[in-house]
Amino acid sequence: MTASTAIETSNFVFDKLVQYDYEQLLMVQDKATGLKGIIAIHNTVLGPGLGGTRMYNYANEQDAIVDVLRLSRGMTYKAAISGLNLGGAKAVLIGDPNKLKSEAYFRKFGRFIENLNGKYITAEDVGTTTKDMEYIAMETENVVGLPEVRGGGGDPSPVTAYGVYLGMKASAKEAYGSDSLTGKTILVEGVGKVGTYLVERLAKEGANILVADVYEPALKNVAEKYGAQVVPVENVFDAQMDIYAPCALGARVNPESIAKMTCAVIAGGANNQLAQEDRDSELLKDKGILYAPDFLINAGGLINVYTEWNGYNREIAMSTTDHIYDATARIYKTAANNNITTLDAAKHLAEKRIADIANVQSTY
Ligand SMILES: NC(=O)c1ccc[n+]([C@@H]2O[C@H](COP(=O)([O-])OP(=O)(O)OC[C@H]3O[C@@H](n4cnc5c(N)ncnc54)[C@H](O)[C@@H]3O)[C@@H](O)[C@H]2O)c1
Repeated sequence: MTASTAIETSNFVFDKLVQYDYEQLLMVQDKATGLKGIIAIHNTVLGPGLGGTRMYNYANEQDAIVDVLRLSRGMTYKAAISGLNLGGAKAVLIGDPNKLKSEAYFRKFGRFIENLNGKYITAEDVGTTTKDMEYIAMETENVVGLPEVRGGGGDPSPVTAYGVYLGMKASAKEAYGSDSLTGKTILVEGVGKVGTYLVERLAKEGANILVADVYEPALKNVAEKYGAQVVPVENVFDAQMDIYAPCALGARVNPESIAKMTCAVIAGGANNQLAQEDRDSELLKDKGILYAPDFLINAGGLINVYTEWNGYNREIAMSTTDHIYDATARIYKTAANNNITTLDAAKHLAEKRIADIANVQSTY
């Protein structure tokens, strides 16, 4: 390693922390259980940082750091724009979930969370389950997403799908003058938990539903149950559609896909839908495609676990999620009035709330 690459490498973490003003990055390890975890706390102006624990076999620790930083910042925006008194944080565990998981592994991780004295609250995410959360709960109270039988909120996906549906209706109103989805051709990409609950709502409203997924049984289920028409994953952007609802992976909206898109609206549940936020939101604006910011319309899951934090009640979770319709409509007005992207409008709103509440808190 040359002297200059050594300097570059040594600045990697702090450069990232300074770029978006992260509060804290904590690396924890335990040799006995093989635990290697990273907790990122982006911003706690509004409250404790809440974000799930993702377990994934990252190629290297740099990838894991980049992921946990990106995800924790997204949680700050999601909580702020949803009016929740929560900050943004996230954790990642490095390793193969099928090989490493054990009671001791998650209880050890629970102890590290406990040491943060409530500044970080965890929940499940990709690669972790409610069972893992139960182990964490043996060591700390700072965990949500517990099973319903344990007083938790259970699967947040129906609430997430409800919020996506409302965001989609508000988008249809802006694009077509009516929020009815009857007769609209809507392609749902990814019919897992969120996608399937969304398809159920769209079918009830009489939408013409197209679905794409890499998992055959999931496709078969929605095709048979809701009369959805299957589109091969590789042909998603060749299809004619009014609304595109990404509900699988991130980064599906990029220059290549935007060039092909026929839809007037993008409104889906996936996190980080834009491959590059600023570039792709500008491209969508130029092409006249309305983009419903993902962290705004997929916040139902976060709202669900926040409700659990205060004593779970599904009705409260659903009624809090109702605000997504008005919030989405407001974002479109702000974006149009100021000739900015819908993403910028949403980010400004979230940042304004954080600044306003920081000012409130400045008085003892
Ligand atoms: N579950 C929630 O409450 C929630 C909340 C907020 C955001 N999200 C986000 O929504 C998305 C879906 O979450 P989920 O809980 O439904 O996950 P899931 O794992 O239940 O479903 C994902 C589906 O996408 C499919 N898929 C995977 N790769 C694909 C590809 N390349 N092309 C097409 N389909 C593909 C999978 O086969 C699966 O059916 C994720 O991006 C997640 O981060 C979920």
